[in-house]
Amino acid sequence: MYVVLIGRPGVGKGTQAQRLGDALGLPPISTGEILREIIRSHGDQAQEIANRIDGGNLAADELIMELVEHELEESGFEAGCLFDGIPRTIVQARALDDLLGRRGEQIRVAIEMAAPVESLVGRILARAGTEGRADDTLPAIRQRMEIYNQRTEPILRYYQKQGVLRSIDGLGTREEVFHRLRRCIEDC
Ligand code: AP5
Ligand code: MG
Repeated sequence: MYVVLIGRPGVGKGTQAQRLGDALGLPPISTGEILREIIRSHGDQAQEIANRIDGGNLAADELIMELVEHELEESGFEAGCLFDGIPRTIVQARALDDLLGRRGEQIRVAIEMAAPVESLVGRILARAGTEGRADDTLPAIRQRMEIYNQRTEPILRYYQKQGVLRSIDGLGTREEVFHRLRRCIEDC
């Protein structure tokens, strides 16, 4: 089963993808984590990627789809996976459908984790003190929120038209949100 988690920065996609992955046997794919790994490796593309994401802007669609295709090929994921923060643009949403389609698969459910910006900025700033992510500064957080509104929110309509969109309240304890997501996935 292929599941997409969509939501504003800080809503808990990564936290919940890990836990759901363990509970349901669906490994998460997080492009944010993969990109940070590339930056840490100081490889060829590291500087260009850092220039984009450290300021809160998106990485290029082509690069993201190459990384996702590579992950799917390398890891198999016959039982499916959880996409954490992919797709983030309409171009990626279409490309992901094509990619899964070539494997005879499709997105079963795309879940919006809904929460207002004001509740999330504080969470991210709190994390900044411990994790030191380069994009957890106030200007970059604002840009990430803006990019979400402009580029990512339109994919909600895309999945709604396909009849696979569900929405859950992303506020509450980690435990509460986990159970909402789990129920949503198990009902599909
Ligand atoms: P990415 O790493 O995906 O960052 P993001 O979407 O900005 O979201 P975060 O990781 O900050 O938040 P989250 O929703 O995962 O929440 P988390 O669980 O961490 O992407 C980073 C960048 O990479 C992007 O800006 C872009 O540049 C690039 N990128 C990635 N994918 C891309 C793509 N497909 N296309 C193009 N570019 C791409 O939780 C946040 C904090 O809150 C944590 O400290 C957590 O412990 C805490 N928390 C979680 N749940 C709760 C709760 N219920 N109550 C209280 N605290 C909570
Ligand atoms: Mg994350």
